[in-house]
Amino acid sequence: MKYSKEQIDRLRAEVEKRLSQKRFVHTLGVEKMALLIGEKCLPERLDELSAAALLHDISKEYSEAEHFLVTKRHNITMTEAEKNESALWHSLTAAAVVTEDFPEYAEPDILSAVYNHTVGSPDMSVFDEIILLADYIEEGRKYERCVTLRESFLSELALSKGVDEATNVLHRAVAKSLDNNIQEFISRGKSYHERTELTRDAIMARIRKDNMENTKDLVYSDSGVLAREAVKVLLEKKGIKVALFDVREKSSVTDYYVNVTGRSSSNVAALADEVDVKLSEKGRAPLRVEGRRGNNWILVDFGDVIVNVFDRESRDFYNLDRHFPEGSQVDISELVAEVDAKFDLNKN
Ligand SMILES: [Fe+2]
Ligand SMILES: [Fe+2]
Repeated sequence: MKYSKEQIDRLRAEVEKRLSQKRFVHTLGVEKMALLIGEKCLPERLDELSAAALLHDISKEYSEAEHFLVTKRHNITMTEAEKNESALWHSLTAAAVVTEDFPEYAEPDILSAVYNHTVGSPDMSVFDEIILLADYIEEGRKYERCVTLRESFLSELALSKGVDEATNVLHRAVAKSLDNNIQEFISRGKSYHERTELTRDAIMARIRKDNMENTKDLVYSDSGVLAREAVKVLLEKKGIKVALFDVREKSSVTDYYVNVTGRSSSNVAALADEVDVKLSEKGRAPLRVEGRRGNNWILVDFGDVIVNVFDRESRDFYNLDRHFPEGSQVDISELVAEVDAKFDLNKN
């Protein structure tokens, strides 16, 4: 332990003096959440997590002039996009303020977590991830996306056994929180920081790699086998117009896409659930499931296989099938015959 309880108590009191009541309550929420996650993922560093949480928004309430002075003193340069987004300034100046005003906490991991808490960084550490996620899902956050993520994350975290499992749950939740932020910016018609996307993609790539290594059933570490299994599950569940596309040569995003149409919005949700549940049972849980609200297009992302479940209108409207490269559609007639035969057998 680097910092005593007395030191952290003193820091908390000092931070309280510098922040508005509202910001301080948020900061305490972040500290509480960081400790809760830290107990599972980084139990030997709770004191440092407290310090990083307490300091993460230390310059959030600075005026433009104050931010400007800090950037001048520390030769911090901002990109044009950063200059235009005042909500980002504090993440660039807070670490510098820590070095000036709280030198005993100016150690690399705390500075890095403070610096990365808003948009992330592709090479961020577990320590950084804890602060970023705690900031996003602390109990004071009431947006629907935050509440949903908080609930699912905390229940998964509680069920996780050991540091590795808990850290895996953390990675997924961090990727999801960054993805939520991206969706939020898109829905407001605003551009988001490129590091947010780079970080999300880097974390997803790491999860994908770990997933492949830990896949219990080795057969499913082959994306082609996984994609065909997804097709079979959807055919068995009576999905309409199931189509498989092999994009291994043409896309860096994934290996295969599976598109399917549901008969109604509840059938769209049922198809997405079925493919999620059936492949999870085989040790390949999806990395994310997007678009539950409205149920007109649900994306189930297994990393190397992406399943798009549409209702009829969305399938026609987005017409994704036509956007895949020529020659990428895979003939699935054998799988259709296999599933039909299974149903015929069941009838007899
Ligand atoms: Fe912040
Ligand atoms: Fe914050």
